[in-house]
Amino acid sequence: MGQWEVFLGPYKQAVDELKVKLKGMRTQFSNANTNSPIEFVTGRVKPLASIYEKALEKELVFQPSVELGKALQDIAGLRIMCQFVDDIATVSELIRQRNDMRVIEERDYITHSKPSGYRSHHMLIEYPVETINGRVIVYGEIQIRTLAMNFWASIEHSLNYKYKGVFPDEIKNRLQSAAEAAFRLDEEMSSIRSEIQDAQAYFTEYKEASNVTIRTNEERES
Ligand code: GTP
Ligand code: MG
Repeated sequence: MGQWEVFLGPYKQAVDELKVKLKGMRTQFSNANTNSPIEFVTGRVKPLASIYEKALEKELVFQPSVELGKALQDIAGLRIMCQFVDDIATVSELIRQRNDMRVIEERDYITHSKPSGYRSHHMLIEYPVETINGRVIVYGEIQIRTLAMNFWASIEHSLNYKYKGVFPDEIKNRLQSAAEAAFRLDEEMSSIRSEIQDAQAYFTEYKEASNVTIRTNEERES
């Protein structure tokens, strides 16, 4: 196995473990019949090509090393999507309270959105991974954002890839007004939050009730 695969092993394990743990939080809310502040969770290990590009950009030595992992911060990347802006504070507090990871830095791009229009709450963490050679501490980045913020960021990211960061004015303006529209969408949804959550709780109960009926019917047939 190559030295990069060996180096990335603990990051892969960290992402896999954190996905299970963060998705577990959603399940726990659901089991408690509480509206979950977490809608869904994704995670990835930064592809080697992106590690190379970012190392070049930051003038770091492209060598598998603890220093590189620490400097890049997001080799292990997790993303938590929420329905409402207020959920982001709930989720970040839940993460701060955990004993299996340590938050070393937070970046609030929600109160202070980036000039691009980007909004998200970032948490940089230290996470211990147990390996056959003992404990390894990996650094990771958790991005917490609403579905609207995620929609905008995904689109902007693809366009960024296409235009290599240099947008034509037309696109730049459109992206800025799209960011404003996403912001307003979040505000609109927040203003009818309790209405939405009542409906979702009702819908979940309805689904559970009909599951019971279906199971009973199946049992009757067998
Ligand atoms: P990089 O941007 O990754 O070089 O690191 P940084 O030290 O500048 O950290 P920052 O907190 O600015 O960004 C970390 C991550 O946030 C990025 O890798 C992206 O996933 C995301 N991000 C930051 N700014 C933007 C943006 O303008 N658009 C999009 N789509 N994502 C962004
Ligand atoms: Mg950046």
